[in-house]
Amino acid sequence: MGMLEGKVVAVTGAGRGIGREIALLAAAEGASVVVNDLGASESGEGADTGPAGEVVEIIKSKGGKAIVNGADISDPLGAESIIEDALRAFGKIDSVVNNAGVLRDRIFHKMSRSDWEDSIRVNLNGYYYVSKAAALVFKEQGHGNFVHFTSTSGLIGNFGQANYSAAKMGVVGLSNSIALDMQRFGVTSNCIAPFAWSRLTASIPAQTEAEIERVERLKTMSADKIAPLAVFLASDRSKEVSGQIFCVRKNEIFLFSVPRPVRSMHRAEGWTPDSIADELLPAFKPSFHDLARSSDIFAWDPI
Ligand SMILES: NC(=O)c1ccc[n+]([C@@H]2O[C@H](COP(=O)([O-])OP(=O)(O)OC[C@H]3O[C@@H](n4cnc5c(N)ncnc54)[C@H](O)[C@@H]3O)[C@@H](O)[C@H]2O)c1
Repeated sequence: MGMLEGKVVAVTGAGRGIGREIALLAAAEGASVVVNDLGASESGEGADTGPAGEVVEIIKSKGGKAIVNGADISDPLGAESIIEDALRAFGKIDSVVNNAGVLRDRIFHKMSRSDWEDSIRVNLNGYYYVSKAAALVFKEQGHGNFVHFTSTSGLIGNFGQANYSAAKMGVVGLSNSIALDMQRFGVTSNCIAPFAWSRLTASIPAQTEAEIERVERLKTMSADKIAPLAVFLASDRSKEVSGQIFCVRKNEIFLFSVPRPVRSMHRAEGWTPDSIADELLPAFKPSFHDLARSSDIFAWDPI
């Protein structure tokens, strides 16, 4: 028996990269899969259901069940169609993997409003639309699992990705809130920050020696390594896991910390701007975190 035997799973952005590997493993573990992919370019232009169709054909050729959904997740009706297609084709929906994503990288002072809005539209609003469409079904049936893709670009930081980082941190807030709001209905919601060589990461500009080295390291990380954790989180075996942020890098799986207060200082008379500068700043300063990029923190070679 596969871990997802008898389950129905929708995976967004499953025509390529990480989503494709999740769809293939979910099917191999017994799930019927809605393979959603708009088939856009890495920055979100155009549409082609060819890649999603290929994934469905591979699943069917191995005796599995899958259908194509070519909707744009940033269109609320398109997002709803993913859940409707699952219900129509397979009679139910058990898990949603919010994986689709686009990049519109630009250094902040040059980031246009459309760079900002296009990223938020797909990477954050799209996740809300798909989750919202599934939430009512999950509530009625008393179970359901959400797996959302975030990024260390948001969790830690990166250059030229203010739009993407904001969206991906938004995804963390969305996941945490769904976990809290829907716990009473038996629903779980978790995040994965992946590292994988894909079309998306192939678009990372690499000019300096350090950047070239970072990209060479990324090339050794294959997308299929992310799928086992996503499939586990989409299964009944992860019932007690919710509101967590995981990270996968090759054969390593990480659990991330979440913000909690690290220092507190009380002043009986209350604070003035001057007393903050004179008393609070020197007390807090040793606890400030350094500004870091994802690659500064994940500085060692993956095994
Ligand atoms: N690859 C990495 O190292 C990495 C790192 C951090 C986060 N991520 C996240 O992981 C997820 C998967 O990334 P990937 O590297 O496999 O990228 P990818 O570009 O290979 O695949 C993403 C897929 O999403 C689809 N898509 C884009 N916009 C869509 C939309 N509006 N509606 C439906 N489908 C749409 C694309 O057509 C594409 O097939 C993304 O959310 C990405 O932000 C990836």
